[in-house]
Amino acid sequence: MPHQIRLATPTDAARLAQLRHDFRAGQGAASEDARAFVERCTTWMASHLAPGGGWRCWVAELDQHIVGTTWLHLIDKLPNPQDQAERHGYVSNVYVVPELRGRGIGAALLSACLAACRADGCDAVVLWPTNQSRSLYARHGFAVHDDLMELRPVS
Ligand SMILES: CC(C)(COP(=O)(O)OP(=O)(O)OC[C@H]1O[C@@H](n2cnc3c(N)ncnc32)[C@H](O)[C@@H]1OP(=O)(O)O)[C@@H](O)C(=O)NCCC(=O)NCCS
Repeated sequence: MPHQIRLATPTDAARLAQLRHDFRAGQGAASEDARAFVERCTTWMASHLAPGGGWRCWVAELDQHIVGTTWLHLIDKLPNPQDQAERHGYVSNVYVVPELRGRGIGAALLSACLAACRADGCDAVVLWPTNQSRSLYARHGFAVHDDLMELRPVS
C-alpha cells in the first residue's frame, strides 16, 4: 500500500514525540531519560500543533501508522518596501523510520512542506541538513549560500 501524506494534528503528538526521540537519540547519546523526554515533547508538540501554535507538521502514514514527519515554522520578517515576501520558512525534523527509507517518503514530505512555503509566500526556506541528507535537499533546490552567518554557540 502506498504511503499517504497529511497534516498532523495535536492528537498525533505522542507518536511524533517518539519519532523525535528516535531521530535525535539515534544521532548521539541522549542526556535526558527517554520517557521524560517523550512526555515533555508530547506536550510541546500538542500545543505547537494547535491553532495559533506556530508550527505545521506533515506526516507520512502507512496502514494508518505514522512513519515519517517534516516540521515547518514560518518566521516573520520586518515589513519591506521592496517586492519581497515577508516571511521565511524554517524546516526541521525531516525523518522517516529506518526500515522505510529510500522509497521517496522523505521527498514526498519535503514536497508537501515546500508547496505550503510557496503557497504562503516565503522569501527563503532554511534548514540545517545532516551530511547524508544533503542530496535530498539539493534535489529540491536547496543550496549552500555564503550570505548567511550563524553564531553557535551563543555564549
Ligand atoms: C533524510 C530522510 C528523511 C530521507 O527519507 P527517505 O524516505 O529515505 O528519502 P527519499 O527516499 O525521498 O530520498 C533518499 C535520500 O535520503 C537521504 N538519505 C539516505 N539515507 C540517509 C540517512 N541515513 N540519513 C539522512 N539522509 C539520508 C539521501 O539524500 C537520499 O538521497 P540519495 O539517494 O541521493 O542519497 C531519512 O533518511 C532519515 O530520516 N534520516 C535520518 C534523519 C535525518 O538525517 N534527517 C535529516 C535532518 S536535516
